[in-house]
Amino acid sequence: AKEGQFNILVSDSMSKEGLLPLLESDQVRCVEKNVNDVEDLSIFDALLVRSATTVTGELLDKMPKLKIIARAGVGVDNIDLDAATKRGVVVVNAPDGNTISTAEHTFAMMMAVMRNIPQANASIKAGEWNRKAFQGFELRGKTLGIIGFGRIGTQLAQRAKAFEMSLLVFDPFLTQERAQKVGVETASLDEVLENADIITVHTPLTKETKGLLGMKNIAKTKPGVFLINCARGGIIDQEALKHYLNNGHIAGAALDVFEEEPVADQELLSFEKVIATPHIAASTKEAQLNVAAQVSEEVLHFLQGEPASNS
Ligand code: MLT
Repeated sequence: AKEGQFNILVSDSMSKEGLLPLLESDQVRCVEKNVNDVEDLSIFDALLVRSATTVTGELLDKMPKLKIIARAGVGVDNIDLDAATKRGVVVVNAPDGNTISTAEHTFAMMMAVMRNIPQANASIKAGEWNRKAFQGFELRGKTLGIIGFGRIGTQLAQRAKAFEMSLLVFDPFLTQERAQKVGVETASLDEVLENADIITVHTPLTKETKGLLGMKNIAKTKPGVFLINCARGGIIDQEALKHYLNNGHIAGAALDVFEEEPVADQELLSFEKVIATPHIAASTKEAQLNVAAQVSEEVLHFLQGEPASNS
């Protein structure tokens, strides 16, 4: 880099268009390369990642000049926050760039699992014409339980209302005032578990939410319930999920995220009633442009001495 220029490492692939503020700035030099393929990590002032790069204390030790880590997305569970804080490195994310894409994908997964679309698609492409095997359910009149009512949960609720679904929302941080504004009913976790026909989770993965839908809580759900996870693998415990799929309690599950990614649990995927996508809820042209642009601006401002807004 030239004198006074900042070095920025973009470790995971990101929207070029979104990165333009960085690529065009003469104040920065941008290297687009995976951290594992960079010989000298010590020169970088900023690190941009999606979810593929795991940021550990060990990695940070190789980056003594690092001032900021930006996550082009929402979840920061691939970044060791304590390790970053200890080293005085600021961590920022792009909290709303992929909200709509994730809410839409969740909706698509809900419809797909309730109407057996992936199964019917596979069947017709295999040369069959089987109209009996794929009877599904309407969304209208069903109760959708939403666990976690942040940006994504809220957008999902609005869409579900247009489909004439009833909504039950559990979120310990949700105020009555906000619930009323969006027009949803707040409920306890048990009320959601006991009354929902479909349950979808929209929380981060934390100590509190890991295994939230596990053996004990899934037992409280209605027989024939559908479960959806487009948030983070592990919020629904996979062993428990398989148990209740095996005994027929769960009618179907739609999963975009897994405890281990790429998913290794072939047993889970082999259930006819499980439909799955490879963590693509945020993979739209719009969302990727949004998140890359959001973190680019943020990093640029931060390096210019302004405070970070999404840390
Ligand atoms: C996110 O946390 O933003 C999503 O999981 C999408 C991603 O991993 O990029």
